[in-house]
Amino acid sequence: MNQKTYWNSASETKEFTTLLDINTLKEHLKPEALIIDYGCGYGRTLDSLWQQGYKNTIGYDFSEGMIQRGKKTFPHLNLRVSKNNKIPLESNSADMVILFAVLTCIIDDKTQTSLINEIERVLKPGGILYINDFLLNTDERNKKRYNAFYNKYGTYGVFELPEGAVLRHHDKSYIEKLTKPFQTESSTAITFKTMNGHHSNGFVYLGKKLG
Ligand SMILES: C[S@@+](CC[C@H](N)C(=O)[O-])C[C@H]1O[C@@H](n2cnc3c(N)ncnc32)[C@H](O)[C@@H]1O
Repeated sequence: MNQKTYWNSASETKEFTTLLDINTLKEHLKPEALIIDYGCGYGRTLDSLWQQGYKNTIGYDFSEGMIQRGKKTFPHLNLRVSKNNKIPLESNSADMVILFAVLTCIIDDKTQTSLINEIERVLKPGGILYINDFLLNTDERNKKRYNAFYNKYGTYGVFELPEGAVLRHHDKSYIEKLTKPFQTESSTAITFKTMNGHHSNGFVYLGKKLG
């Protein structure tokens, strides 16, 4: 299934759960900071930020359904449909880019790398990339599906869900390589609840664009 079709079909029903650490964010950002949420879904993270006084925000998502739900649920937010993994903003313009559970939806190294480069382009020097995403698990259920789809996708950690999503859990050393353009401020291993109610290894990463 085309992945945009899947995310459109999920747009009315799924609840996303990875957590925004507002205290960490406040350490890095003034209230007027321009914050971009890429792959913003229905905008729940930007609404949390809005409630905390961060109102200069834009959310992008390639799923029209997600953006429609967001506009209905949170009409005060600036939510837009994105295309081709691009962020249509000037270079050096954003103070923070949030990327929560989006890498997991982009299964190939090349597309992930070009998205990270696009994020680096739009961030100001000193701007922050804030990622929450999934790491490889070692339990039998996960190992079975990583092995089952390894031949089809060529990357250990990629798997299909019966409902049509193709997702990726990442090797920690791969994430270190992917985020190389940034200076790591913190990188913490954590357990997340997934959108289907399971638990998965994950990480929270904050990196700074060097000036
Ligand atoms: C698991 S959801 C997380 C949504 C949101 N970040 C959150 O934490 O609430 C992943 C989102 O990424 C979007 N997405 C997946 N691939 C994308 C891409 N290549 N470009 C833009 N959005 C994408 C999906 O439509 C979906 O809304």
